[in-house]
Order: sequence, then structure tokens, then C-alpha cells
Amino acid sequence: MNKAWWHNSVVYQIYPKSFQDSDGDGVGNIKGIISRLDYLKDLGINVIWICPIYKSPMVDHGYDISDYYQIDPSFGTMEDMELLLKECKEREIKVLMDLVINHTSDKHPWFEKAMEDLDSDYADYYIIKEGKDGNPPNNWRSIFGGSAWEKIGDTNKYYLHLFTKAQPDLNWENKELRSELYEMVNYWLEKGLGGFRVDAISHIKKDFSYVNLPADGPDGLVDAWEYYKNTTGIEVFLNELKEKTFKIYDSMTVAEADIKEVDRLVDFIGENGCFSTVFDFCHTIYNVNDEKWKDKPIKMVNEIREKLFKKQLGAAKYGFLSNFIENHDLPRCVNRFIPEKEISFYSESMLGTLYFFLRGIPFIYQGQEIGMTDFPKKSINEFLDLATYQNYEKYLGKGLTEKEALKRINIECREHSRTPFQWNSGENAGFTSGAPWFEINPNYKCINMKEQEDRENSLLTYYKRLISLRKNEEYKETFIYGDIIPAFNEYDGIISYERKNAKQRVLVINNCSNKPSIIKFKENVKQILLNNYNDIVLKGKNLELLPYQSIVLELN
Ligand code: GLC
Repeated sequence: MNKAWWHNSVVYQIYPKSFQDSDGDGVGNIKGIISRLDYLKDLGINVIWICPIYKSPMVDHGYDISDYYQIDPSFGTMEDMELLLKECKEREIKVLMDLVINHTSDKHPWFEKAMEDLDSDYADYYIIKEGKDGNPPNNWRSIFGGSAWEKIGDTNKYYLHLFTKAQPDLNWENKELRSELYEMVNYWLEKGLGGFRVDAISHIKKDFSYVNLPADGPDGLVDAWEYYKNTTGIEVFLNELKEKTFKIYDSMTVAEADIKEVDRLVDFIGENGCFSTVFDFCHTIYNVNDEKWKDKPIKMVNEIREKLFKKQLGAAKYGFLSNFIENHDLPRCVNRFIPEKEISFYSESMLGTLYFFLRGIPFIYQGQEIGMTDFPKKSINEFLDLATYQNYEKYLGKGLTEKEALKRINIECREHSRTPFQWNSGENAGFTSGAPWFEINPNYKCINMKEQEDRENSLLTYYKRLISLRKNEEYKETFIYGDIIPAFNEYDGIISYERKNAKQRVLVINNCSNKPSIIKFKENVKQILLNNYNDIVLKGKNLELLPYQSIVLELN
């Protein structure tokens, strides 16, 4: 395998609206990020991924771009962005921007021109089709709910939007459009970006070979994934994108793409694949608060383990997965994976250890390192995201009462991870001097960065240890390129794996339960590299793991 600079990355994801405000308007901004770079450097990360900061009407919080060449005024200016790049370079931190090229905003000039004249060249930049008998062209459901088609004025034509109607899908079949996109990507790479996280890229190729499919819900619509997700032929577009842009600049690229069939990963992350790594959500569909897993957390852990290792072993042949337990589209990891009464330093540090040494690139989402939690709401009106409301409507449509629908939303909604960062216990958690755009989780008085910064036994200190071990000169070859071998799979609730190369063996053991667990242990321990408790109880051949204990051992 050819080595690349990004193999040694620990990535920190920033949701800029909620990271740090510098001017008191209640919205996080670029200057705010700059003011926190020393914090990030000290944490030990070496790459940041910033969610979209381009000009946007913010219907989908920046994932609806109206000008790819401008910074949204709420985040600052192009000068701020250039300063951020310079400041990051001085600290040896690479910057990834979010690249949203499956769709634009409906306020993008291309779309506005398309709507003005449906025969114009710009109309072919989007996916516009004739309706059928007064209905949309087909019964595809948008990923956020409702029809994926929006009628254009009083014509019989509709445009496609896989996300909200303010995010019309681009027509990648159009060569001029593709050239314009590549030019834009290169404009940003020229500025010195390390690369991109590539949004919703699985959807750029559509298959229009059917009109309607049998409905899969009372709305008469259907999730037609196989027609717009990793559809045959997508590789041609992805390869062209890579050749004309990323490859020229030796960029790191993180594709938001769930690849179900492991062998298909070769096209995405193989030696000649289109991206550096893929963000795979297979383990994130689990939530201990779902009816299905109520009172069965260990069963859930066992199922997650099976999925995780299947992907890990499959991907190891080809390249690097992105390893993560949080992002801006998910509730907080502690609430998803740990029963409420068991949330503590031990369970939280166990979650971190669990994924950090897997084969691939570790990602940390802002606030994860201090154990930020979900913030359930008392009323649906307290939420701000369109997708939340569409899901709420979907549940009402399925016959849930308002109370039941709110309960579901409180469990699964992605807005939990978007509350402002909790920097300290002062006014507005140190996030802003003004009125925050989204309510701050009231638990900031006890969960905040300042309180954990210098505390030896805090989660933040533990995350620093995790990162420092992952990047340690002695072990990094093993962690990056070593084999991954699942271990102790016969024990319920244990997720354990060995990382191994010709010179070294490192064993990671996680007890994912609040009960002690005894493991038959025959190995010869050379060194304890990490432990979230003070002690390790080894009695003869019995390793007695404490509740939620995680240990990382070097073996002889
Ligand atoms: C991706 C983003 C998500 C956004 C969607 C539409 O899934 O992560 O936040 O809403 O794409 O752009």
C-alpha cells in the first residue's frame, strides 16, 4: 500500500453554527473557530472538518448552497477563511471543507435561471421531468419525507429534490455542470485546503428506469434507494471528479457513503478508488432507547459487534474506513449506546476506546470529548430543523399521537448534537455573549470544557490520552496499517480486537456493560497502554473486567 499523509489523521468535526461565536450575534463563526485552535491543537487532532460555511439561505443549515465561491456572512468573510487556513497551517492542522454537490439551494443563480426559462441551458443543470396524469413523474419519497418532486409553477413539470424542496438535485449527466463543479472544487483546493468531506455523494447518479413502484407507506410514496444510491455507473462520475480535482492536490476526501456490499468498497477506497475514506453508518442505527432494545442492551452490543467487525474485516483488504460514534446528523453517542442510569465517566470513556483503535481514521465530533448529551424538548415547537418536522409529520401520519411522535423525535432527532458547545459554566456556556441561535443544554453548568480541562480523571483528559496513544510514534504503524483481529467474540457484551503487525501486538478490550465480566486470558502482557480504571484485576488466567472497563495492552 502506498502511504499517504492523511493515513495518520485524527479528525475533529466542527459544526460551525454551534462551535464558538466571536461577535455576539448568537451564531458560531470562523473567527470563533480561530480562537479555539489552540484548544484543538492541545487535544491532539491534526485535521478539522468544518460543516458548510458557504453562502446559504440556511434552510438545511448550510447544506443548501447559493454561492459556492462566498462565505456566508453569518460565518464571516473570505479574509476570515484565509486567516483560518493560515492559522491552521502554523499549527500543522489540515482543513477539510464540506463539499455539497448533489444539490444546490433553490436560491442558487443556476436554479433561478433554470426556473425563469425551462428551455435554457441551466434548466438541464437540474433534474426536471414531465408529470404524469396530474401527478409527479414517479412516487419517490424524499429522504426527509414527502414527495421528492416539486411542481414548477403552473407547468406540468417537476424538479427533483432528494432532500428538502429548497435543495434541488443537480443533473450530473450534464457535462458543463460537471466542469463548473470541478472548477469550483479546484478554486478551494488552490487556497490550500487539505481536502473535503463529500456530502451525500452516493446520490449523484439516478436511475430513471421506472415510473412508479408499490408504495411502502400510507403516503403512497416509496424509498427507492436502489434507484438513487450508489447506482450502477456512479463510478464514472466519481472517477472523473477525482481525476480532475482531488488527485491533482493530493487531497484527503471523506465520502459520506454507506456501502452495504463490502466488496464494492474497492471502487470507493481501494488503491485506485475515488476517495480516501468512507463514512459508513452501519453501527449508528442502534439506539438503546428504541422499543426493540429496551432492557436488552447487551443483545444490542452483540449485534453492533457483528456489524462492526464484518465491515472492518471486509474493508481492511481495500483501504480505510472512517471510524466515528457521533456526527451532526445523529443524537449524542452516550444517549444512543448507554442506558441512562449508566452514563458515567466509565461508560463514556469506554465508548471512546471502543472505536479509536479500529482500522481506519478516527473522527471526533465537537462536544463528544467532554461528554455532551442529548437535550430532549417539551414541545415540538422548540426544534428548528425541517427534517425534524418532516419526521414528526411522518409519525403522525402513521397514527402516533402527538405525545408519542414527540417521544420518538426526542430519541432520534439529529438536532441533539447541534446545541452550542459547552465551553464553561458562565453566561451562555461561553459560546456567545448574545442570544444563542439554538437553546443551550442546561447541563452546561456541570458538563463543560473548563471544568474538565485540568482535571486528571475527566473525559477530556481521557480523550487526550486516546489521541496521544493513537499517534504515538512507537505504535502508530500498528494502529494505522496493522491487521485487525476480533477477539473474545464468544463473550456477551465484550468488544475486543487485536491490532497486529510483524513487530507488535496490541489488544483492545472493552466491557460494554455495567456488569463485571470474567475472561479467560492466556496472553503475556508486555505493557498497559491505557486503562479507564486505576487497576487491572488479573487472577491467574482470569481477567476480571470491571463495569465498562476499557484496556489497551501491548502483548509479547
Ligand atoms: C448530508 C448532511 C446532512 C444534510 C444532507 C443534505 O447527509 O450530513 O446534514 O442535511 O446531507 O445535504
